[in-house]
Amino acid sequence: MLHVPVLLEESLDFLLRDLSGAYLDLTFGRGSHSQEILNRITSQGKLHAVDRDHEAVSYGKKNIKDSRFSIHHSNYSEIESLFPQQQFDGILLDLGTCSTHLDDPKRGFSFQRNGPLDMRMDTSSGFSAAEWLNSATEKEIGDILYKYGDEKASKKIAKAIVNYRVTRPIKTTIELTQTIESVIKRTGKTHPATKSFQAIRIHVNNELYHLKGVLSKLNDVLKVGGVIVIISFHSLEDRIVKNFFRPEVKEMPKDIPINVSVKETFRCIKKKIKPSSNEIKMNPRSRSAVMRVFLKL
Ligand SMILES: C[S@@+](CC[C@H](N)C(=O)[O-])C[C@H]1O[C@@H](n2cnc3c(N)ncnc32)[C@H](O)[C@@H]1O
Repeated sequence: MLHVPVLLEESLDFLLRDLSGAYLDLTFGRGSHSQEILNRITSQGKLHAVDRDHEAVSYGKKNIKDSRFSIHHSNYSEIESLFPQQQFDGILLDLGTCSTHLDDPKRGFSFQRNGPLDMRMDTSSGFSAAEWLNSATEKEIGDILYKYGDEKASKKIAKAIVNYRVTRPIKTTIELTQTIESVIKRTGKTHPATKSFQAIRIHVNNELYHLKGVLSKLNDVLKVGGVIVIISFHSLEDRIVKNFFRPEVKEMPKDIPINVSVKETFRCIKKKIKPSSNEIKMNPRSRSAVMRVFLKL
């Protein structure tokens, strides 16, 4: 199944202020936002896209043949080295994973599909979920499940994982799912493995670190009068975005150097836009999306 874009109309209505401008889609995915940007901009307009996933980049190269478009394999937190000389009229960040990650068993993102426990968006770097789960301490696993998944049974699950790997390493999504199911019972609609899979994915991809990294660099690649549109899918991401751009910033990222006075540089022009009930009905995955829009002064 192809990735269904979230808040497509709303995001592009804010993003595209100058239809002959240069734009940056930092989360290409399967390119639905990019394709629509290309539909709307003029022949003078330009679009650069970025994704850390090789499959996304190959998909873009194969399927979008347009002289106004180019695509790059990179982590978005490295935009300053990718575009050292260039400033854009608008930048889009549609955070998180694609449905194509969840749908493909060999990527290991889904507790519903059996496959190798990988979960990396960029399979050419970092460590897989299996590598981490087989080497981390019980405390490290419990802390990540709690911090990134808000999993109340984090300690119980961590203990079960460590017990499991005494006899053999945990290698597949189904082994992890069954280990979690052995200690927490399903109550309500949510599967007991949902929060743990989210937490492990966030950790393996170091998602929040890279989000803070890209936020701190957006000023370098955005023109005055340019717009940043950010769509988040969980409260950890949205809180980082909200706090970064808040004039009276209380919780600045401590692990990333910030060389810009956010208060004097950006103004929030739209906060907390959510998908309509119609969009949620058509695409239930969109229900947790929150969009914020910022203007560079
Ligand atoms: C929600 S999908 C984007 C979907 C896209 N807007 C579309 O219309 O198809 C997010 C994409 O961002 C990519 N991504 C996530 N973190 C990234 C990072 N740090 N650097 C570059 N790409 C990243 C993922 O690989 C994924 O393809």
